[in-house]
Amino acid sequence: MNHYHCWLQYRPMTNQSLRQSYQQWLRCVSLPGGHPSPLLQSIRDELNRGIGAMLQMPVDFVEGSSPQNYLTVIGKPNQPLVRECLGPKLVEDLYQMKDEAYCIRTVAQAEGGRIVITGHTDRALLYGVFHLLRLMQMNEPLEQLDIRETPRNPLRMLNHWDNMDGSVERGYAGSSIFYEHGRITTNEQRIRDYARLLASVGINSIAINNVNVHETETKLITPAFLPDVAKIAGIFRSYGIQIFLSINFASPVELGDLDTADPLDSAVRQWWKERAKDIYQYIPDFGGFLVKADSEHRPGPFTYNRTHVDGANMLAEALHPFGGIVIWRCFVYNCMQDWRDRQTDRAKAAYDHFQPLDGKFLDNVILQIKNGPMDFQVREPVSPLFGAMEQTNQMMEFQITQEYTGQQRHLCYLVPQWKEVLDFDTYAKGEGSTVKRIVDGSLYGFKHSGIAGVANVGSDENWTGHTLAQANLYGFGRLTWNPDLSAEQITEEWIRLTFGPDPQVIETIAHMLLSSWRIYENYTAPLGVGWMVNPGHHYGPNVDGYEYSRWGTYHYADCFGIGVDRTMKTGTGYTAQYFSPNREMYESLDTCPDEYLLFFHHVPYTHRLKSGETVIQHIYNTHFEGVEQVKGLIEKWKRLEGKFNQQTFDHVLSRLMEQLEHVKEWRDVINTYFYRKSGIPDEKNRTIY
Ligand code: GCU
Repeated sequence: MNHYHCWLQYRPMTNQSLRQSYQQWLRCVSLPGGHPSPLLQSIRDELNRGIGAMLQMPVDFVEGSSPQNYLTVIGKPNQPLVRECLGPKLVEDLYQMKDEAYCIRTVAQAEGGRIVITGHTDRALLYGVFHLLRLMQMNEPLEQLDIRETPRNPLRMLNHWDNMDGSVERGYAGSSIFYEHGRITTNEQRIRDYARLLASVGINSIAINNVNVHETETKLITPAFLPDVAKIAGIFRSYGIQIFLSINFASPVELGDLDTADPLDSAVRQWWKERAKDIYQYIPDFGGFLVKADSEHRPGPFTYNRTHVDGANMLAEALHPFGGIVIWRCFVYNCMQDWRDRQTDRAKAAYDHFQPLDGKFLDNVILQIKNGPMDFQVREPVSPLFGAMEQTNQMMEFQITQEYTGQQRHLCYLVPQWKEVLDFDTYAKGEGSTVKRIVDGSLYGFKHSGIAGVANVGSDENWTGHTLAQANLYGFGRLTWNPDLSAEQITEEWIRLTFGPDPQVIETIAHMLLSSWRIYENYTAPLGVGWMVNPGHHYGPNVDGYEYSRWGTYHYADCFGIGVDRTMKTGTGYTAQYFSPNREMYESLDTCPDEYLLFFHHVPYTHRLKSGETVIQHIYNTHFEGVEQVKGLIEKWKRLEGKFNQQTFDHVLSRLMEQLEHVKEWRDVINTYFYRKSGIPDEKNRTIY
């Protein structure tokens, strides 16, 4: 495998009969006639590239009709050739398809057959083509295709936390692919390749700058940078991806135009309207703004005694004439908390701030909510804000970049975590009110909704630092397209596409990936309590690193016990933010799942878990086990030597070896800390310092 190409390897087909069959089907491809749109050009390019590499032959493109048999036909349902192939009944049925949906069908004909890829938009056709290429990469037969695909989430989005100096906040894969030295990059090929990767898994939106908008980035919405932003937008457009910008709420002031950014001030409102007009002149299909306001010292409406509604609606009004939307983040909490203050609970903040505002936002505003109430820890309950605002568009924010999950030095495959979150039943509207049904918009009929992920990509040759972390990007895309796909299916697809068909490779890497999140959890902060990392950069163990700080992230360990009492009865009352029966489930020690125990309860070290172990013994056991499990990952990986290129083998091995060293540090720091605090020895008498 070539790590730059990720899951678009297009390796030459070695199976002779399959190759001949594919060659027959794809020798000639019919595309819609007329002036080709940039998207159709991308389809052409991708077919040339994919078929050229896999089948070692050129593709003969024809426009519109052709008497040829064994023809692949790509076109809209109303095109004569598509109608002729599929018949009027099916075509009529296809008229109901949504804009991004596609159908791929093999139709038998007297002398052979045709493969038809159809959908209403060029973007849908591009998705269909990527699907076909994926099937070919996985050596699937094409003789009887009958595929109908509709993306479940309207917005399938990446958030880049890239800064214009080239750095990436929480980036672990090199520098930004968009910016260098305060300017937009000239390396357009890299962006094009990125757009291809994203489109191939159905991503349709991207915010290209950090939510923390600093001085230079504030100017991205001005004519100083818009021509360059428009160039990036143009590349993404040709892959069906809309771009968004993160904005600085204080822009009118910081750009020196006004002396206030008060959202109810008419000059401010006018200012944003003019900016919107400017932007759309350069980028007619601009997606809109992503906003971090009144969060971690970022400016926002609070400065002017205004609300989030005032702030978001002002921007929404400015974007409305052009069809743009405002994605307003709910990551709002007091980051100046006194650790002695036991009443304030950061976990409650997003709900407390936003839930009372339900129904007040304009309908081109979406609230973007992190999956958990804290901040992307390895294990957190689902944010209780999901489903709690029936009349307000909501979307999910996941973190693909592994800030708290090993920073792409450790293996931590997050698809199983995301699956758990999306499958969680909030009971917002009775049983079956899963998070995935809230964020796909179907439960409440939201006008806009979807899933965003903080990107894990940078300038490293392999894009993601750890080559196996490419699976997180792939899996994110596939899940946002269809959250019902199983983690196993996504995983197997990714491995087959990336590493090829060898069953031993598939089985080994699948096992490694699918066990890695649990392994990471085993050797880091126990039982849902979170944090315990070094402050600032968040890498490596530091049990009290955040204990006496202002961030609201405490575990309250003393010599008797540990955990945060978030119950209504004796704690912060956070459990009340959930719908029944989740509220009661978390409230009661008897029913609270072990993995969240210390998130919701403060218990003695001798408290017995449902597993039968005491809390302290669980801590020791999982931390010793975590090290053994990482050794197991290394053993497994070593057996794959020679199965693919040495460079990839060596690279992953060296990351795993580094992980092993680091895991030992985690084990010893955590075990020693709790042994010293509790004075309770390990039942198995293993070494604790
Ligand atoms: C975390 C992260 C920050 C980021 C913030 C956010 O706190 O460490 O780097 O800016 O989340 O999501 O806004």
